[in-house]
Amino acid sequence: MSEFDVESIVSQMTLEEKAKLLVGIGMPGLFGNPHSRVHGAAGATHAIERLGIPSVVMADGPAGVRISPVREGDARTYHATAFPVAVMLASTWNLELVERVGRAIGEEAREYGVDVLLAPGVNIHRHPLCGRNFEYFSEDPLLSGLFAAAYVRGVQSAGVGATPKHFAANEQETNRFFIDTIVSERALREIYLKPFEIVVKEAKPWAVMSAYNKLNGKYCSQSEWLLTKVLREEWGFNGIVMTDWFAGDNPVEQVKAGNDLIMPGKAYQINPNRKDEVEELVNAVKRGELDERVLDASVKRVLKFLAKTPALRGYRYSNQPDLEAHAGLAYEAASEGVVLLKNNGALPLKEGARVAVFGTGQIETVRGGTGSGWTYPRYVVSILEGLRESGLKVDGELAEMYQKYVQEMRKLDAYKPKEFFGQPIKPRLPEDFLDTEMVNKVAERNDAAIFVIARVSGEGADRLPTEGDFYLASDERALLKKVCSAFHALGKNVIMILNIGAPIEVASWRDDVNAILLVWQAGQETGRIAADALVGRINPSGKLPTTFPRDWPDVPVAKSPECYPGTPPENPRVVKYCEGVYVGYRYYDTYGVEPAYEFGFGLSYTKFEYGNLTVERVGDKVRVSFEVVNVGGYPGKEVAQVYVRAPKGKLDKPFQELKAFKKTRLLKPGESERIELAINVKDLASFDESEGVWLVEKGVYEVRVGASSRNIKLTGTFTIENDIKFKP
Ligand code: BGC
Repeated sequence: MSEFDVESIVSQMTLEEKAKLLVGIGMPGLFGNPHSRVHGAAGATHAIERLGIPSVVMADGPAGVRISPVREGDARTYHATAFPVAVMLASTWNLELVERVGRAIGEEAREYGVDVLLAPGVNIHRHPLCGRNFEYFSEDPLLSGLFAAAYVRGVQSAGVGATPKHFAANEQETNRFFIDTIVSERALREIYLKPFEIVVKEAKPWAVMSAYNKLNGKYCSQSEWLLTKVLREEWGFNGIVMTDWFAGDNPVEQVKAGNDLIMPGKAYQINPNRKDEVEELVNAVKRGELDERVLDASVKRVLKFLAKTPALRGYRYSNQPDLEAHAGLAYEAASEGVVLLKNNGALPLKEGARVAVFGTGQIETVRGGTGSGWTYPRYVVSILEGLRESGLKVDGELAEMYQKYVQEMRKLDAYKPKEFFGQPIKPRLPEDFLDTEMVNKVAERNDAAIFVIARVSGEGADRLPTEGDFYLASDERALLKKVCSAFHALGKNVIMILNIGAPIEVASWRDDVNAILLVWQAGQETGRIAADALVGRINPSGKLPTTFPRDWPDVPVAKSPECYPGTPPENPRVVKYCEGVYVGYRYYDTYGVEPAYEFGFGLSYTKFEYGNLTVERVGDKVRVSFEVVNVGGYPGKEVAQVYVRAPKGKLDKPFQELKAFKKTRLLKPGESERIELAINVKDLASFDESEGVWLVEKGVYEVRVGASSRNIKLTGTFTIENDIKFKP
């Protein structure tokens, strides 16, 4: 847009117009506001017609474009593909695949008239209970950052913008609008800012969304340190920062801090303490409280951002994205994210096996979490449908009982779906409605039992360390017990399918079942994915991007309410990230706490061997090369992981940290792949708070190549002769 002369446009704008450009039009379609041109989109900017500036539309979210699938008085539909949730995308460990998912989501956004996608979510799985963990990739900053970068590259290659969010330290939903996150600069830089740093530097997102919470005393959206010093000056970000929806309490402070766009606008519509942001900005300039040059700097950034959008370029969208092709891609992505957690030879099932399916999740299969990460696809294949399609012989009488049960229960007041911003929030159904006699009868006539546990969570609330959420409910346990005794008495297997968005407790029951397949919330193809993995049409190749702890008290944040959910615990205002950099496997490995399933874990129907490691320090890189061979009987892909263990030095370091990884191509039995990876020496640094610098300490480093963080197959070493320090 060379003709789009930002300087000249700014010079023609009135103060009122400038302020308007920095504030959204109000929540479209709600609180009496008109819809934006794309119904159900989360936000839009003000058009300034006099200057030829159109309104630009923004829509969520991480698992697919969230817009309204229907519009009043319009016979057409506007469905978007439901892709697997982010934690499942990260479970693929396949960056190229996730980039293609990003591109497909970008194309759908573009073809529906959306200019900017409000995704990906780049917060860290600090613990398993954050209600939005499903929207975030991992507990590891490198994995999160690289997946975010792949996703953003994909979205932006379609010509629409991406918005990594929520910047930063927004790892819980409890009191998210005002909770003050207290975190050390080291933990912040190494764990919580790192994924944003990676995505900003590698993928140049058009926008970043600042978070709701306060960070060390200041609202993120009002923190000059965060938005200007770190994001722009240190990392060279040159896009815009937009607030999360209704974030913060002071638009003037937001603009001063470098938060260019205040979204969705008209905060007074939901909060009587707020005023019209446009007026506030105008008045602040008039009163001399806000330097007009500061306002102008934001206006220029917003104009440069607008110049890139399809709306400004006059793109004619079709309202007809290629949903067929994207359904195939949603399947492909999910097929690589399935994680096989346990298999005592029960899987794969023989084609045509007779299976009894238990659990209401077979019918009410969860495609993704609720809130802004929700999607409206054309269809969702339930687990029951997927199993039926797959050629397995599903016990018809049992399936019918489940269908009736679900239908009847949902009519009862206690279990009626509750509408929340147009989304059905369904209370969990009690599972133990079958008597022992029925279960025994079903066990007689089937070859295996499939047991589905489903969980859903979403924006605005965290999960709970209670039965029915993190733990199995007593009704789930009771049914599982009946099923296991009936099937095991006859020498038949019980296979667990986990249709969940974040870890649950598994250690107390996993010995009772013969296999566990984690299908996450796999989007619209969830049922097909589950079925095809069960019968071996998919050979599971996903690995955990997040630890499954043995029990909630094992999680470092569970040590004190100060650390989670914050204090006072009934209504927390302050949460301390007490564990510092010891998040996820960094904690479990360093402190010798055994998880249920460790970071990086996942089984396959085949076996891989690792060999021929070479480690070589070449200038500012460490080159790591090794071979992976498929020595089993099935074609499969392996996720090889490289961890580095630092020498003892000035700074305490985690036992090991992930520094590189690679998923192999599909290897046939007997085939091998040589994997070559490079680690930047600088990426070995920890942040030394005493000097305010990144520090790579001298000494001998151990390179640990493995199939998971605790299944290390090969080790080597390299040496750093002298300390290396550099400024952030
Ligand atoms: C969420 C954001 C989302 C926005 C717009 C907020 O409540 O935190 O992730 O993009 O709403 O829907």
